[in-house]
Amino acid sequence: MSEDSTSPVAGPVVRPRRLRTTAALRRMVAETSLEARQLVLPLFVREGIDEPHPISSMPGVVQHSRSSLLAAVTEAAELGLGGVMLFGVPEAKDATGSGAIDPAGILNLAITDVVAEVGDALTVMSDLCLDEFTDHGHCGVLTADGRVDNDRTLEVYAEMARAQANAGVDMVGPSGMMDGQVAVIRQALDAAEHTDVSILAYSAKYASAFFGPFREAVGSSLQGDRRTYQQDPGNAVEGVREVLLDIEEGADLVMVKPALAYLDVIRRVRDAVDVPVVAYNVSGEYAMVEAAAAHGWIDREAAILETLLSIRRAGADVVLTYWAAEAARLLRA
Ligand code: PBG
Repeated sequence: MSEDSTSPVAGPVVRPRRLRTTAALRRMVAETSLEARQLVLPLFVREGIDEPHPISSMPGVVQHSRSSLLAAVTEAAELGLGGVMLFGVPEAKDATGSGAIDPAGILNLAITDVVAEVGDALTVMSDLCLDEFTDHGHCGVLTADGRVDNDRTLEVYAEMARAQANAGVDMVGPSGMMDGQVAVIRQALDAAEHTDVSILAYSAKYASAFFGPFREAVGSSLQGDRRTYQQDPGNAVEGVREVLLDIEEGADLVMVKPALAYLDVIRRVRDAVDVPVVAYNVSGEYAMVEAAAAHGWIDREAAILETLLSIRRAGADVVLTYWAAEAARLLRA
C-alpha cells in the first residue's frame, strides 16, 4: 500500500472479481450454457410389469412399465429435453439375446409406443446392444469357449438396427464396442431404406466401475468383465482413435462414456472432430451424488447442475443424464 494519501490506492489494476460483481454480469459473461435441449433422459422399460419398479442403487430412477413410460416421455417433451434413450428389460433372456431382434420384444414395442406418444417433439433414441437381452450379460454372442464373438455379433446388431428402425426410432445408439459396428449398422439401415435414422456411436466407452448400478437397472448378472471390448481407463489417445473410426464408418454423433472420470477425453474428442459430441453421465456417477446428498454431505441440486455444466464445459454438446428432467425443471426455476 502507498504511504502517500494523495496517490491512488495501490492494489491490483486487473481485478477479475469485477466481472463477478452482480448476478446479471456473471450471467452475461458466462462461457458455458446448460439448457434442457442439451439433455437426454435415459429410460428403462421392463416387460411384464404394471407399476414402475424402483432401482435401489439409483434412488429416484425406476424401471418403467409400458404405460408409465408414456407419462415419462410426455413430461420429457413438455420440459423441452433433447431426447430420450430407451433401454429394454426383457422377461426372458437367452444366449443370443433374441428378444432384441423380435419385433414384439419389449424395446421394439416401447419405441413404437413412445414415437406414437411424442411424435417429433423429442428425439427418440434406443440402445443398440445385447447385454440387456443375453443371459450371460455380455454385449455380444459368445464363441464355444466363451469369448465375445465380434463378427457374429455384428450380424445380430444389423438385425437389431433394422428392428428398431422398423419400430420407428429416430436414432440408434450402438453401445457394444464391437469393431466395425457402425459400418454394419449404417449399411443395414440404408439397405432397408432407413437412411434418415441416425447413429449415435458410443465410441470411446471404457470398462468402468461406474456402470455398476446400471446392472441392477437392466437386471444383468454379467459373467466376467467387459475388458476385451470396452477400453482401458488409462487410454485417451485410443479414445480419439475409436471416435475417428466411427465417424469414418458413418457415425452422426459420437459419445464418450462415462463422463466425469473422462472429462479430458471429452475435451480431446471435441477438439478432434466436427460432429456433435455426446457424453453419458452414467449410473455410478448419479449414485455417488445421490448417496452423498442422502447423507446431507452435499447440496444435491447445486451438485447436479455443477456436474452437468462441467461436462458441457469439457466439450460435450449433449449430455445423457438420469437428472435430465429434474435439471430442466431447476433451470426453469
Ligand atoms: C450397454 C450399456 C451400458 C450402459 C449403457 N449401455 C452398460 C455397460 O456397457 O456395461 C451403462 C449406463 C450407465 O451406467 O448408466 N448396453
